Amino acid sequence: MASSNLPEPGSASELPAPYGSGPSAVEQGSPASGSQAASGPVAGKPLSRIRTHHLRQAKAAGDRFAMLTAYDQYTAEIFDQAGIEVLLVGDSASNNVFGNETSLPVTVEELLPLCRAVSRSARRSLVVADLPFGSYEVSPAQAVATGVRFLKEGLAHAVKLEGGAFYADTVRAMVQAGIPVMAHIGFTPQSEHSLGGYRVQGRGDDAARLVEDAVALEKAGAFCVLMEMVPAETAAAVDAAIEVPTIGIGAGNSTTGQVLVWQDMAGLRGGKMAKFVKQYANLRATLSEAARAYGEEVRSGQFPGPEHSF
Ligand code: KIV
Repeated sequence: MASSNLPEPGSASELPAPYGSGPSAVEQGSPASGSQAASGPVAGKPLSRIRTHHLRQAKAAGDRFAMLTAYDQYTAEIFDQAGIEVLLVGDSASNNVFGNETSLPVTVEELLPLCRAVSRSARRSLVVADLPFGSYEVSPAQAVATGVRFLKEGLAHAVKLEGGAFYADTVRAMVQAGIPVMAHIGFTPQSEHSLGGYRVQGRGDDAARLVEDAVALEKAGAFCVLMEMVPAETAAAVDAAIEVPTIGIGAGNSTTGQVLVWQDMAGLRGGKMAKFVKQYANLRATLSEAARAYGEEVRSGQFPGPEHSF
């Protein structure tokens, strides 16, 4: 198994191989600097882009993949080189980049440049762009027009929209237009006011509704179904009911993939974390310490030293 727990090319799911493993691979050069893998088992070989069919093959082969949000050049570059298969330019940029309280205020015009930066910086990861609130609900035609902008101007490889079976016609129209669509069901943050806040969805009898949503979206052509804040048992039932891969966030361990907002995963965001978040680093403490040390050295005259001066 490769560092990302995914097989090398030629094994069952045939996902394109990741970069070399470990921090040394991340440190070696930027993706923009060449078309060859930096190090590791595929060193010297051109990197292939992860495509939607690779994710489908991963599910069929019983493999898993990882998705993280990314909103800028360096995180895209680092996550791509770390072997993260899918990067999501989430509308969570609203509350993780633009300082809003919720995902609702972010606009197409605000997300497009972030999407371009991520797409230009990732050589292997599939880049998925979120359609912001208000940019696709009015009609399939509106959704197609917005989706086209994300592929054409944002350089995304696919888009994600929130909603269940009600959006099947919209998904169908987008797929017919050549736009790969990831569907997002369960808790859908753009609907937080109609859902009555951040609440687990698909408990008890409501589980059947989520299964119906997923089946309808798959039939309409969605290449993947993402579930947020859904009981593990419900998510497993949804995953079993469809052939396309599923991605979970607070949806247990039966989905094909998992996603986290990177600032949560890496401990950059402060405050209370949702139950489904696991923090793999404490970047907030690291950055805060670095800023404090820099400030003190500037105030004391210690920085810049002779080695930083011309
Ligand atoms: O925008 C986002 O970050 C998302 C994830 C929570 C899946 O939609």
